[in-house]
Amino acid sequence: MPKISKGGPLSSKPYGVSAVLLARYTVILLAIALFYLNLVVAEESKPISPKSYQKLIGPGFSTNWFKTETPMKKYSEQNIKDVRDKGFKNLRLRCRADLYSYNYTATNFTWFLKNLTTVVDHCLKHKVIPIVSWIHHQAEVCATQKDHDAYVAWWTAVAKELKDRHFNLAFNLFTELGEGECGTTSNESIRSRIDKYNKWTADVVAAIRGTGGNNGQRILILGSPGKTAKDLKNIKSTIYSNDSYMMAEWHIYASGPNKKKDGQKYWTGDGTTKGRENVKNAIYEATNFTKKYKLRTYLGAWMPQDNDGGKLNENEVISFARFFVSELRRIKIPWSLNVLDRYYDTKKKAWLTGKQKIKGQKLNMSRVLDNIREVMP
Ligand SMILES: *[C@@H]1O[C@H](CO)[C@@H](O)[C@H](O)[C@H]1NC(C)=O
Ligand SMILES: *[C@@H]1O[C@H](CO)[C@@H](O)[C@H](O)[C@H]1NC(C)=O
Ligand SMILES: *[C@@H]1O[C@H](CO)[C@@H](O)[C@H](O)[C@H]1NC(C)=O
Ligand SMILES: *[C@@H]1O[C@H](CO)[C@@H](O)[C@H](O)[C@H]1NC(C)=O
Ligand SMILES: *[C@@H]1O[C@H](CO)[C@@H](O)[C@H](O)[C@H]1NC(C)=O
Ligand SMILES: *[C@@H]1O[C@H](CO)[C@@H](O)[C@H](O)[C@H]1NC(C)=O
Ligand SMILES: *[C@@H]1O[C@H](CO)[C@@H](O)[C@H](O)[C@H]1NC(C)=O
Repeated sequence: MPKISKGGPLSSKPYGVSAVLLARYTVILLAIALFYLNLVVAEESKPISPKSYQKLIGPGFSTNWFKTETPMKKYSEQNIKDVRDKGFKNLRLRCRADLYSYNYTATNFTWFLKNLTTVVDHCLKHKVIPIVSWIHHQAEVCATQKDHDAYVAWWTAVAKELKDRHFNLAFNLFTELGEGECGTTSNESIRSRIDKYNKWTADVVAAIRGTGGNNGQRILILGSPGKTAKDLKNIKSTIYSNDSYMMAEWHIYASGPNKKKDGQKYWTGDGTTKGRENVKNAIYEATNFTKKYKLRTYLGAWMPQDNDGGKLNENEVISFARFFVSELRRIKIPWSLNVLDRYYDTKKKAWLTGKQKIKGQKLNMSRVLDNIREVMP
């Protein structure tokens, strides 16, 4: 067996001095490295102001992975990488709470939580901002006490599961408050009852903040009581005035512009007739609100094509898209485009390039997306 020689490099004279020096430098270098590592780590886990968060959200997409009974059926981590590589920075993870019973300890709901965590973690890993949002149309419209309690319980379960995740994760309390029938004679919907909106929101904010971890200072994005920005002023200001980590969501053109004369979403040609003015007015509601109430906003849903009537041709779709995106960029409101699947095949992990027939209108959505990317922040 070879014996370790007593005259080995470390003990021999010529090498001894430099070995000591080397050790000393190594210690110093290590200390410096640790110092900077600490700074980086400390910075990474710091709460994010709404002003910075608005910049981080940037342009992105809304998603369908959690809108089906088998979550993530068509999902793969590559989807998230591809989104980021294309220059998009956020994904709105719309979650259908109505697919589950109100027993949030049920096995299929705990699976949902695990699946959601997987996607959130992939987003964080690939520098995409994950924004989780709740949907339950029946509950929004009926809005009974039981619905309220289940809403708070849903968010409590989601918040607990994700409480230690990076501050880049945000919770968006409503996806969109809809209208509809509940079979009652009076209109009980949250949309028609601002008192209910405020109660549900205040209670859920308290519940989420109370789950601890990073949730005490995580960005929470309030829903608009009536979709668009003009209703934001109806949110009871005490819900956000003493909380430094609040924003609000609003949207318009969630199913695109159309050619309904005198409508709020009318657009034809290049928009000079009335379309551009419509866009500007819709946006004014948001910027005026922010100026007055000091709450920053995010636009959670829009699309450039006429998804109901198919009345806009490809050039009109593009001119609307370019104008809308440019205006939002000017006032620094970030957005999520409806919906990733329109532009990208999640199952095949490939961007779509063919023509698509949308309500009878043939559109090259790849060309539309190229135009959006040219003017987006
Ligand atoms: C989950 O289980 C509940 C209770 O069995 C059931 O009502 C619900 O439809 C299930 N949801 C999904 C998405 O499987
Ligand atoms: C909820 O689901 C869990 C797990 O499946 C079950 O043990 C429990 O009895 C259920 N609770 C109610 C109130 O149905
Ligand atoms: C969703 O979660 C369940 C339970 O943890 C797991 O079996 C399933 O593989 C997950 N789905 C995906 C696509 O990761
Ligand atoms: C309930 O009120 C909302 C908001 O005022 C309105 O948009 C909706 O049409 C009403 N729904 C019913 C069923 O009356
Ligand atoms: C505002 O928030 C701080 C800390 O979050 C709390 O100590 C204080 O009591 C709150 N003030 C009001 C008026 O709610
Ligand atoms: C917003 O403010 C501008 C400038 O103060 C004003 O001209 C405009 O009418 C306001 N618009 C809305 C929709 O409140
Ligand atoms: C759609 O536009 C893209 C450019 O974004 C182009 O590469 C593709 O060939 C077009 N597809 C068709 C069917 O014209």
